Amino acid sequence: MQKKIEQAKLLLEALPYIKKYKDEIFVIKYGGSAQINTELKNRFAQDIILLYMVGIKPVIVHGGGKKINELLEKLEIKSEFVDGLRVTTKEVMEVVEMVLSGNINKEIINLLNMHGGTAIGLTGKDGKFMTASAKAGGKYGLVGEIETINNSVIENLLNEKFIPVIAPIASGGELGHPGYNINADLAASKIAGSLKARKIIFMTDIKGVLNKDKELLSTLTKEEIIAYKKNETIHGGMIPKVDACLEAVEAGVSKAHIIDGRIEHSLLLEIFTSEGIGTVIKNN
Ligand SMILES: Nc1ncnc2c1ncn2[C@@H]1O[C@H](COP(=O)(O)OP(=O)(O)OP(=O)(O)O)[C@@H](O)[C@H]1O
Ligand SMILES: [Mg+2]
Repeated sequence: MQKKIEQAKLLLEALPYIKKYKDEIFVIKYGGSAQINTELKNRFAQDIILLYMVGIKPVIVHGGGKKINELLEKLEIKSEFVDGLRVTTKEVMEVVEMVLSGNINKEIINLLNMHGGTAIGLTGKDGKFMTASAKAGGKYGLVGEIETINNSVIENLLNEKFIPVIAPIASGGELGHPGYNINADLAASKIAGSLKARKIIFMTDIKGVLNKDKELLSTLTKEEIIAYKKNETIHGGMIPKVDACLEAVEAGVSKAHIIDGRIEHSLLLEIFTSEGIGTVIKNN
């Protein structure tokens, strides 16, 4: 009996958060690096369904760096990273689209649907919901910078109780254009800002942002981010992630979190407990 009472108390601990977040949009960036094994993927899907069942509106944006690398390697197509972004030729773009929108997107949808949700997948090309132009004048090839987001596409899906699952590819806006590869972190932050999301959460393969001594930085300010980027404490894939956090909070999202997707139920731990995990960035 005592154990049952403890369980009930545990459930009640989540109550203030459930009240606070009901009907709010949470954008969750599901990093390719956090999509590790079947067990963790199932835990992720359960967590999303729980959020959904208590009235939170999850919008998922996913990455897929590792899988893209694997297929590029198999096909013997070379690609390189500059400033944490994948330089994208037309050939690479085809693979990016195949993996993101064909393989990973459908896998996540299937996972959520099998766990009791009604997830629907889309890229920026669907309903022309996201358009882009070449980033930095084409320095990174077909890496795009988002120009427009048509919110009504996502809002309609949310109103109809769907869980949108977005692959970070944008329409090039003209006939025959292969589309743009958008860094998933930056796509997530743009989408979160434009939907006026309450929170954005990045699930990745590390505890959060670490300092030079590999210690977790549980909070970060804009000034610290600038300094850590400058001295290369923050490098590679963490660069677009912290940029995305800043962009989101500056666009009105109240908090951006970077959490360890390798930990079981990391999403629930972050959202429904007072301690939280990982790194949080707030607008100051
Ligand atoms: N200061 C730092 N603190 C923590 N991680 C850092 C830091 N600087 C660089 N990184 C790197 O950033 C990586 C996370 O970014 P990465 O792009 O690899 O993953 P992701 O964005 O979750 O996945 P994907 O790009 O496939 O969606 C970490 O695994 C780590 O190697
Ligand atoms: Mg990344």
